Amino acid sequence: MAIIFHEAAREFHLYNDKLSYIIKILENGHLGQLYFGARIADRKDFDHLLETCYRPMTAYQSENYAFSLEHIKQEYPVYGTTDFKLPAMEILQPDGSRITNFTYCSHRIFQGKPGLKGLPATYTEAEEEADTLEVTLKDELLGLKLILLYTIFNREGAIARSARFENPTEETYKITRAMSTSLDLPDCNYDWIQFSGAWSRERQVKTRRLEQGIQSVGSNRGHSSATHNPFIVLKRPTADEFQGEVMGFSLIYSGNFLAQAEVDTYNVTRVMLGIHPFSFTWNLMPGESFQTPEAVTVYSKDGLNGMSQTFHRLYRSRLARGEWRDKVRPVLLNNWEATYFNFDENKLVDIARAAKADGVELFVLDDGWFGARSNDYAGLGDWYANTERLPNGIKGLSERIEALGMKFGLWVELEMANMDSDLYRSHPDWLLQTPGRTLSHGRHQYVLDFSRAEVVDHIYDMVAKILSESKVSYIKWDMNRSITECYSLALTPERQGEVFHRYILGLYSLYERLIQNFPHILFESCASGGARFDAGMLYYAPQCWTSDDSDAAERIKIQYGTSFGYPVVSMGAHVSAVPNHQLNRITPLSTRGNVAFFGAFGYELDLQKLSPKEREMVREQIRFMKRYRSVIQFGTFYRLQSPFENNIAAWMTVSEDQKTAIVGYYKILNDVNCEYRRLRLKGLDPDKIYHIDQTGSCHGGDELMNLGLITTDASAGQPGSGQPEEGFDVCTDFWSKLYVLTAE
Ligand code: DGJ
Repeated sequence: MAIIFHEAAREFHLYNDKLSYIIKILENGHLGQLYFGARIADRKDFDHLLETCYRPMTAYQSENYAFSLEHIKQEYPVYGTTDFKLPAMEILQPDGSRITNFTYCSHRIFQGKPGLKGLPATYTEAEEEADTLEVTLKDELLGLKLILLYTIFNREGAIARSARFENPTEETYKITRAMSTSLDLPDCNYDWIQFSGAWSRERQVKTRRLEQGIQSVGSNRGHSSATHNPFIVLKRPTADEFQGEVMGFSLIYSGNFLAQAEVDTYNVTRVMLGIHPFSFTWNLMPGESFQTPEAVTVYSKDGLNGMSQTFHRLYRSRLARGEWRDKVRPVLLNNWEATYFNFDENKLVDIARAAKADGVELFVLDDGWFGARSNDYAGLGDWYANTERLPNGIKGLSERIEALGMKFGLWVELEMANMDSDLYRSHPDWLLQTPGRTLSHGRHQYVLDFSRAEVVDHIYDMVAKILSESKVSYIKWDMNRSITECYSLALTPERQGEVFHRYILGLYSLYERLIQNFPHILFESCASGGARFDAGMLYYAPQCWTSDDSDAAERIKIQYGTSFGYPVVSMGAHVSAVPNHQLNRITPLSTRGNVAFFGAFGYELDLQKLSPKEREMVREQIRFMKRYRSVIQFGTFYRLQSPFENNIAAWMTVSEDQKTAIVGYYKILNDVNCEYRRLRLKGLDPDKIYHIDQTGSCHGGDELMNLGLITTDASAGQPGSGQPEEGFDVCTDFWSKLYVLTAE
């Protein structure tokens, strides 16, 4: 059992060989936080870790002048009863008060991990994989219960947390803030890392030193967004990719979120993560409960890579679900950048046939196949085939694609409607809209009110019909705008603060029904690229279109940033045409492949438009990916050199048996007469001899990890540099190289 309750000291110790988490029931009945960090030996009493002291201008609840919540590290703090920092929760009561006092009632410790109703969450397959502590607290005056859940995964340095409020009373209470996790750390000697950006520039790594005051990122866009990701990192300033203390905080949720660190004047750091309290109010009705989403906190002594590898393993195997979870992903070709809206059935089949000839396994039909959709003004909401373009419907097209020997995939954007659609014409009240106000559009589309079960049911029926009639093996589920005028015509005025969250619950319920009823389908989530790349989505769709930016150089940064919190296999990554459609940049086909290999690989172009030489290279890329995708998608991934700090970026992946490793090495701008270069590799077996395909030489794992792989390239003044010759490995801007290492 990895959770011990020390009865006399009233302390819980959650531990495994990677971490310890110690909680104490304080003298006022609240839960205090004594320690979170590297594993320490268990003791019967950790009371000496409770730091209290008398300070001026402090408020007290009793005559004990050493006990003030302002100075005690807590588990789920409240504001206004001697603590003045922002709290984990707040409840507005019928008399207007917001003061609460939840004190310890009881607890349960058990093996395994319960699911969270209607919400995505990590899970166990065998009970021994994790232990759970469930602490019940009660506010005696209000009669409300608060249940805090903590799960420790026995083999991972990870703790999953969530909170549930239960209302057994006759009153209605308004929850205005309910974070998923809150952690008070004794100092502030950390760098804060956030993953921020915008459309086509998602998850750029931004680092700054924590400072007194509040630093936060969040989303109030109705989805987790490209602006900030619901994942942040605190690392010791001396920690780097390979060593040092790092904590990662990840929210398993796809809607509005807040990630925040408040450093008080004594340098105590309070980190919290949960649903954004701005525009959130939940009416906790008599007899009902409210469950927060889950947050996962990872502790690593082995630097940022150690933290990421924990998230990768956990999210790949105990968050993602379904038949595709452990399977290598098909090499796909998506027609979006090949045709945009300009296609018909024969054109698609021609593109697919060429793709099949080169080894592609799955053809994906993107936007434009339904209703009156010939541009982005019409059609969303009408999930039946446009028979002018596709005379045989999706059924006929999918059968033709399968007859080529490929699988067929389909794009949908189920949460939206255009006003020019049958759906809107028959149900104008089904859009989220605020009465009397202008309804803003985004890409000429409007957001369906997924807080209403009848809307979700209707969409389900339409899409389920297509999926049942046709041969669909893959769905790309897009979402192309943020939510405005968020208001449901079906809810009473006092419930409007629930709409953002109810929308996400409706979205999750639709996903759940589809994956349960169509378990063979591989789902890929998407939101104008990576505007909803979050852990919540991974529970339903094990991969996500990482970004609409398919330029290889930009993708290095985007995939690098994404890899901090999410596994390689979850990143949709495609080779697209040049000049690139987002940047107008020309990068070598080899580099486009070498970047896209590190993900769920595919193509986003019409292969018929490539030269015979390029087609041969595509065939070679696909052969390579099929041969090595299990290592790439399920191996241990290491970031080696950051594109945010260097002209040369590098990463690698190592198979579980350490017999195969693949290194991706990317030079953004070429240089001349450059220095000698070595790249120190990671994760190899020091006692194995590795053969490197690209150099033809053999090296010890110890040598490669300590001296490094020699990566000096043709721009180091070797013969031929600057004189592009057929077959000679000449460096250019955006040049890259893959190294495949194999050992006996
Ligand atoms: C945004 C997606 O990210 C693209 O890949 C494409 O599917 C378009 N939407 C289609 O409208």
